[in-house]
Amino acid sequence: MSVLMKLVILVPCCFFLVGLIKFLYDYLWTPLRIQHVMNSQGIKGPPYRFIHGNNDQVTRMKKEASTKPMSLTRHEIFPTVQPHIYSWLNTYGKNYLSWNGVQAELVISEPELVKEVLKNSEKAFPKPKPTLLGSKLLGKGLVMVEAENWVKQRKLANFAFHGESLKNMIPAVVASVETMLKRWKGQEGKEMDVYQEFRLLTAEVISRTAFGSSYLEGEKIFTMLNKLSTIVIRNIFTTRIPFISKLWKTADLVESEELHKGIQDCVMEIIKKREDKVASGEADGFGNDFLGLLVDAYHDLDEKKRLSLEDLVGECKTFYLAGQETVNSLLGWTVLLLSIHEDWQEKARREVFEMFGNQNPHPEGIARLKTMTMIMNETLKIVALNIALHNDPQLWGDDVHLFKPERFAEGIAKATNHNAAAFFPFGLGARSCVGMTFATTEAKIALSMILQRYTMTLSPAYVHKPVLLIGLKPQHGIQDHLHRLQQGAIQNHHQRDLHQLHNPASKKVECVAFSEVDVLKFLLVGQLHLVVQGLPHWPLHVFPHDHPLQHCFQCHDWIG
Ligand code: HEM
Repeated sequence: MSVLMKLVILVPCCFFLVGLIKFLYDYLWTPLRIQHVMNSQGIKGPPYRFIHGNNDQVTRMKKEASTKPMSLTRHEIFPTVQPHIYSWLNTYGKNYLSWNGVQAELVISEPELVKEVLKNSEKAFPKPKPTLLGSKLLGKGLVMVEAENWVKQRKLANFAFHGESLKNMIPAVVASVETMLKRWKGQEGKEMDVYQEFRLLTAEVISRTAFGSSYLEGEKIFTMLNKLSTIVIRNIFTTRIPFISKLWKTADLVESEELHKGIQDCVMEIIKKREDKVASGEADGFGNDFLGLLVDAYHDLDEKKRLSLEDLVGECKTFYLAGQETVNSLLGWTVLLLSIHEDWQEKARREVFEMFGNQNPHPEGIARLKTMTMIMNETLKIVALNIALHNDPQLWGDDVHLFKPERFAEGIAKATNHNAAAFFPFGLGARSCVGMTFATTEAKIALSMILQRYTMTLSPAYVHKPVLLIGLKPQHGIQDHLHRLQQGAIQNHHQRDLHQLHNPASKKVECVAFSEVDVLKFLLVGQLHLVVQGLPHWPLHVFPHDHPLQHCFQCHDWIG
């Protein structure tokens, strides 16, 4: 055999051998070594399986769990929504090692460790690298970036979604809710999928407040983002086979690339409109909303402050997606829970009338909605993604699975026994949610305006099936019946309270909350003695003068 022939055979053989060694090193040796080291430190977990890791097990467990019926009153979503984590936590302890394909995942649910990782004070825990598909969804948006880029982008987002900027958004939120309520006219008593309604509302709100456009303008972006996020979620536990995935693109990958390009083009179109207005002299700046700030930063002459085109597009995608999906879920689940727990619906309605009467919500009142805050916290405890900790009976007690907003009556710190890691629906530390106040403000406005007009009951057609997508979603929507509140009933909310004040003899005085004006009126004529908790917050606990009861029947507090 000639030397040339030998080379022709040997060279490919060498390549093949090196490739094989590298493959076995990456897909066998490294995982087994990591597993061994972790095991020797006491971290156990389901054993690594060649190439697939534990993905097949996860898929099987999820499929099995999804067939089990779920209770509407005991919110034990953990075993259904994350059956693999639930099962492995019980088998291997609070911290365990599992395998997403060849990627080792250390799952931690010990509160102290969770706090340490999320606070990340030593900057020791970088954000995980996104998957190929994941990077198409959020690109270089705030959720994904690190270091100087994060500082730059976080500063802009902080400015846009807090303080005065947020206060200035309130009229646009109210106007968007009014549009939704107009749509509801004539639907009274009929079945309605409120989850879909809130999808339109939240899309409209983020479009108007952050991007200065209507839902219609952003509609294409929302539709494409929705499709793209469904593809990303569908592929979280899909194993990528080495080499083959590089040579052959799956249908999902091809579609995600098209969607990625489509979204980018639409975002660029919206940005270009702003730039054109400045270029033609129609506007003297790019605008005061979030998009305006971003375009401004994209044109910044100072290179350190400037955003790249990739950053700009990623940031728009992130806020379109995060601004809509999250609040959609929060509103949907809160309405579902209030439709089931009518006593809490009534308490929330009373508070809304006491705070706003028939008027639209205003910033000062929104900040003082105590009952509504308790209800939203309890909803987030049930549906936020921190499922393991939010469902831990050791942290919350035996009633952990029940809907009990009263556990938040004295604030989050008291409810969690000052354990920050027991309840953190918006994350912890520097990377916690930048949209938290925006989200809760929007939800409070929408809920207040609905409660002022409607009572809500759950339709018998509703099928309870929460599924984990970007957040926890109701797989079949939320079918509700909305009944118009009678004018007389609205009046009664005020009159019942007044009656109790004029009847100091009545034994069971409820904890009544009045507007400042009402209270001053009764104080002036000497009919009232005030017991005030938590000044300067309203509502106050108000008791008739000399009343022997010093117990508030609403929040079950003894006040001395
Ligand atoms: C109920 C509503 C919401 C919930 C439960 C929620 C939850 C969270 C959580 C848990 C994180 C931390 C993620 C991590 O540690 O990696 C986060 C981050 C973030 N959220 Fe939200 N969010 C909500 C609403 C919003 C809204 C309305 C926006 C935008 C307007 C938004 C934008 C963001 C962004 C950009 C980040 C990344 C922050 C950073 O890394 O600096 N979120 N959110």
